[in-house]
Amino acid sequence: MTPARQLTSPVGQESRFVVPETGERELPWWRNAAIYQIYPRSFADGDGDGVGDLAGLLTRLPYLAELGVDAIWINPWYASPQADAGYDVADYRAIDPLFGSLADAEELIRRAHALGIRVVIDIVPNHTSDQNPWFQAALAAGPGSPERARFWFRPGRGEDGELAPTEWHGFFGGPTWTRITEPDGTPGEWYLHLFAPEQPDFNWDHEDVRAEFESVLRFWFDRGADGFRIDSAALLVKDAALPVQDPDERAFTDLEAVHDVYRSWRRVAESYDGARVLIGEVWLPDAERLARYLRPDEMHTVFNFLYLECAWDAERLRAVIDDTLRFHQEAGAPPTWVLSNHDVDRVVTRYGREDTSFAIYARQHGRPVDLARGSRRARAAALLTQALPGSVYVYQGEELGLWEVEDIPDALRQDPMWERKGRNPADPGRDGCRVPLPWAGSEQPFGFSAPDAHREPWLPQPEAWKEYTVEAQAADAGSMLSLYRSALRLRRVLGDGDIAWLAGTPEGVLAFRRGEGFACVVNLSTESVPLPLAGTVLLASDELRGETDLPPDTAVWLSV
Ligand code: BGC
Repeated sequence: MTPARQLTSPVGQESRFVVPETGERELPWWRNAAIYQIYPRSFADGDGDGVGDLAGLLTRLPYLAELGVDAIWINPWYASPQADAGYDVADYRAIDPLFGSLADAEELIRRAHALGIRVVIDIVPNHTSDQNPWFQAALAAGPGSPERARFWFRPGRGEDGELAPTEWHGFFGGPTWTRITEPDGTPGEWYLHLFAPEQPDFNWDHEDVRAEFESVLRFWFDRGADGFRIDSAALLVKDAALPVQDPDERAFTDLEAVHDVYRSWRRVAESYDGARVLIGEVWLPDAERLARYLRPDEMHTVFNFLYLECAWDAERLRAVIDDTLRFHQEAGAPPTWVLSNHDVDRVVTRYGREDTSFAIYARQHGRPVDLARGSRRARAAALLTQALPGSVYVYQGEELGLWEVEDIPDALRQDPMWERKGRNPADPGRDGCRVPLPWAGSEQPFGFSAPDAHREPWLPQPEAWKEYTVEAQAADAGSMLSLYRSALRLRRVLGDGDIAWLAGTPEGVLAFRRGEGFACVVNLSTESVPLPLAGTVLLASDELRGETDLPPDTAVWLSV
């Protein structure tokens, strides 16, 4: 574990803050929530089959309440062949038996609400599963049928239709079209899939598709869901001309008509009581394009991937923070802050590398990692992130300081990226951030599965995680878990609003105030620096040197 001591217990110190004036007394919950991301197959296994499920999650809800989160976002739980860990949905109104039943989902929402935790679920509208009844009907119905019109079926190019309709590149590697065999046994049309072949893309120009998804939204809102995380949200609409070459992905990314979809979804959300929220997974490098999804009649928030991708570098982080705050203010939407999720390298590993940035197309698997340095930075980053105005995401295991598991045996890899990218050791996919959580004890499965489990966890857990279990960390005031618990509790009073950077701070130091009473200082340089303002330490990411010296890669929250 990182040797660290919490300098001052924050318990009972909330009253020392002067709460920043936000101008709004009752903020809707999503404007400043801490949202914990649950990857259900790796969170907690209730039935002993080595895969996490809703029964396991139910028993761990008190843990989340104690951690101090306002909401959970649950990755797809729908009936699915699991070709892409549930992002291939066969039935949007049923729970996969691997995870439980619809009754379990309803019970989960009810029990979470009783603990004051909102529930956001994942919706996957760009594509479905090849086992979805609509797609099966399209295969059976043949070329030119109304069933095929709900997807992107096209004849191939070339003399015998042997060439795919376009040469677009898929997100998982490999081609984006698959040729089918027609019901009469002849080689037939091709269908589009931006991801795996098991994930055919819907045709969002089709009225049935639009109506179906509005009905799915209502199905879950009726059952108490507080919102949706919208998967691959910028990709839904395609350029129907299907240009053969599309190097900039313009034929399927961020087309104007996609905004109509979210306008109608917003109307659905607003027809329900309470604040129901739409959260977009919109990976766009251009902040101005991103902001368009936040117009008042579209989504409520979007994930901040600009922040997630940013290196551990004061100047670059400050630029991203300023940019984020500016374009969100212009849009009238609250910013979000994300350090990691189920698709990217765990933050301890990323910050422990020489190049601390993240790029989805340029993974750094296998490069040297200094875990101690990575942990130290991840602790400081947690305080930086949670001091910023808006909502914050915590990906399960981030609060335990888990690292990317880079030595998963090839035979056990499950991410479709592994095969589709040609088993590339430098880019083996996303399994390393999806390893089941360690809860207790000193041996695998570390309390992830019940003691009488009949299967091992679906991915092997590092032995070293015995020191990183919830049980071990709960008893250690210097642990990452204790730091997250304290920070999540304290950030509650910070609310929404703005930040004011302190003038004249040394190079490599980020320092800002929130309102009159609170300041956050982070030292990203390689030397200790004197604290740039006087105040009482509420929380520090690591031990300080003396009263006023902030060591490298350390953050501090001050009551000033
Ligand atoms: C999800 C991924 C998933 C992909 C296809 C995403 O961006 O976060 O986990 O593989 O969409 O659905």
